[in-house]
Amino acid sequence: MIILAIETSCDDTCISIVEAEKDRGKTKFKVLSNTVSSQVKLHAKYGGVYPTLAKREHLKNLPIILKKSLKEAEEKIDIVAVTAGPGLEPCLWTGINFAHNLAKKLRKPIMATNHIEAHILANFINKETKNTFPAICLVVSGGHTQLILMKGIRKYKILGETRDDAAGECFDKAARILGLGYPGGPIISKLADTKIKGNLKLPRPMIFQKNYDFSFSGLKTAVLYDFKSRSDKVKNSKKYIQKMATEIQQAIIDVLIHKTIKAAKDFKAKSIVLGGGVAANQELKEQFQSAINKQGLKVNLFVPEPILCTDNALMTAVAGYFQWLKGKKWKKIKANANLRIDENI
Ligand code: KG4
Ligand code: ZN
Repeated sequence: MIILAIETSCDDTCISIVEAEKDRGKTKFKVLSNTVSSQVKLHAKYGGVYPTLAKREHLKNLPIILKKSLKEAEEKIDIVAVTAGPGLEPCLWTGINFAHNLAKKLRKPIMATNHIEAHILANFINKETKNTFPAICLVVSGGHTQLILMKGIRKYKILGETRDDAAGECFDKAARILGLGYPGGPIISKLADTKIKGNLKLPRPMIFQKNYDFSFSGLKTAVLYDFKSRSDKVKNSKKYIQKMATEIQQAIIDVLIHKTIKAAKDFKAKSIVLGGGVAANQELKEQFQSAINKQGLKVNLFVPEPILCTDNALMTAVAGYFQWLKGKKWKKIKANANLRIDENI
């Protein structure tokens, strides 16, 4: 079974061709091609993603990437999978229309996939899932911050989410305030140095509240106030920027770890599963593991390799394969910018 998957929910144009094979009851995935065309340079000017510009780029890039992918993997395609949501609506429609035309041309079925589920499934490509569920999933990206209880593949319940900015958005906006460029996450994480001890202290919003919700806009505002209060000499000093980057990263990590571990304890989870661009943060991964060890929790930590944390179509192909297994069929897929993981597509 060969799946061609298309992902255009945000600012990356992604196409992947994956072979899924059942082997003694388990599915083995073989990556035949996996292309991501990033628009980062284009959006850097705006300090964030500009939807109409992103849509135009997807339209331009999709045929080029398709040609390249089909050259890399000359196999016959059996199904076409595409992200239906959540994401930026004009960008989602571009991928969906392209996928529909391709499926029609190939006379093959088309599968709609959920982008958040795909970020979670990026963890289970050729991995043993025995004794994994129930799992607590933390999906942290530029557009989403959600805690999800996962009882198995396609069995989800949203426990909590951000009330305002997403964790990745907070990294991006804080970097913009400090004049560091876009996207903020990788830039701040490169500057951050946990060995630095300083007197700079930022808030950890909602950390001790009993719910599973998050809020990051206050943290961004605290960064802005601190930055504004400093003299030009301090603002431009490497020492201040480095202290700030370290503290921003630590404040976000503290909240994410505290809330996720609380959920893991409350629901007696057997594993903690991370996904989304922010999960590419090495310090987050290390501190998660050390918190699990320190508290003596018997949970496995799943984190995809960095290129599978950020947007890609390989995870979309895997999500499409599970839709196909369920025997789902679509005549006309619709974009749903606010699609939820516990909703049917
Ligand atoms: O999953 P993703 O590629 O796109 C969305 O679906 O939003 O996530 C992009 C986000 C950006 O906000 C970016 O700053 C953040 O992930 N990010 C990181 C790191 N790499 C990417 N945040 C923290 N540390 C990183 N190493
Ligand atoms: Zn994403």
